[in-house]
Amino acid sequence: MDRIRIIGGKPLKGTVPISGAKNAALPLMCASLLVDEPLELTNVPDLVDIRTLGLLLEQHGVSVDRSAVGRMVLNGKGVHNTTAPYDLVRKMRASILVLGPLVARHGKAKVSLPGGCAIGARPVDLHIKGLQALGAEITLSDGYVHAEAPKGGLRGAKFTFPQVSVGATENLLLAASLAQGETQLINAAREPEIGNLAECLNAMGARITGIGSDCLTIQGVERLHSATHRIISDRIEAGTYAVAAAISGGCLTLTGLPDGILDSFFDHLIAAGVTVEQNPAAQSVTVTAGELHGVDVVTKPFPGFATDLQAQFMALMCLSQGASMITEAVFENRFMHVPELMRMGANISIQGGSALVRGVDDLTGAPVMATDLRASSSLVLAGLAAEGETVVSRVYHLDRGYEFIVEKLRNVGAMVERVA
Ligand code: UD1
Repeated sequence: MDRIRIIGGKPLKGTVPISGAKNAALPLMCASLLVDEPLELTNVPDLVDIRTLGLLLEQHGVSVDRSAVGRMVLNGKGVHNTTAPYDLVRKMRASILVLGPLVARHGKAKVSLPGGCAIGARPVDLHIKGLQALGAEITLSDGYVHAEAPKGGLRGAKFTFPQVSVGATENLLLAASLAQGETQLINAAREPEIGNLAECLNAMGARITGIGSDCLTIQGVERLHSATHRIISDRIEAGTYAVAAAISGGCLTLTGLPDGILDSFFDHLIAAGVTVEQNPAAQSVTVTAGELHGVDVVTKPFPGFATDLQAQFMALMCLSQGASMITEAVFENRFMHVPELMRMGANISIQGGSALVRGVDDLTGAPVMATDLRASSSLVLAGLAAEGETVVSRVYHLDRGYEFIVEKLRNVGAMVERVA
């Protein structure tokens, strides 16, 4: 299994182009299940999760054409199978996003329950309750969700999310686009990836208003049609490279980043002593390292501080002056990076859902591994700043979410290589 070897201590300098967002691409690919015409997506990142979902959609009968770099054409004309099997779903929880579109357009679906994952139990009860509100009959048996639409199809309804969920909002948005009548989603998630999905659905003929707010209104339509849509940039990838600049004592310009999608994160970086210069006209941000101070963080749904950047920010706080209290309020078990950072010399103690990070002067390289995507990236970041050699195992986690990570880091001066 591949590993990433890093020799730390080199300030990174230069420009990093930000790729298309994995978390926007996944629900957008599932939108192909709603139409029998081509859906063309551009700015698609080349990542393992994208390929995994491509395989799942293909076994449903969607044709997936990836012949041009960054471009994907999906056609749901030939969909014949409404079962999403355990073997594919267990590889990626986002597979649950086929549930809403399959029931909406094909009247039924059988989707494996994804099960727990490294960062917590992660139930799918909100996806199920929301679809039930649209009239779907749902039963759970043999580890599968069995869903059936009522005669005449799903019906619009008002659904209030008891808790903000990105995936459940996306599933309902997809399903409600083809339901009869009006659906209102209250306390919906507001992540930019949801806005990107809603805009694509509208380009396909859906009628969604309230985009960007926590109340989405969808007037169902009978059918959707072909569209071409560009995937937004990956704000989590951008945040990760912003930390790379700050932790390595360098300066990086991140390009292709729309204004306003990382504001809370940048506010925290600035409070920590990092210089962040945003240039909205050029869709770029320049991040320059500074003397680091401890800053407290509480993760929240958008527009709050993203849980997907918590591990990376913690790596930075390990080298700050003073202390930082980092509270994880979205997932119940998202501190797997802590013991590994401590093996590199960090001073961190966990108290329930919070981690108290006391800054140290130096980190030292070590062999480390992590059990999820963002935890792995925090170890790469720590390795960039650490003295000596860090070897990060289980690189497949990084391959799920960071396009060309080794190449991008090498281009800005990092001493990093992938070893078999
Ligand atoms: C998405 C992102 C993930 C990010 C997360 C939170 C994708 C593919 N993944 O995951 O990278 O970390 O948003 O920003 O976009 N919950 C329930 N019941 C449900 C659904 C969720 O209790 O039916 C809970 C979860 O366990 C979690 C919280 O709600 O504690 C938020 O989860 P959710 O927003 O749904 O995350 P995902 O969509 O899975």
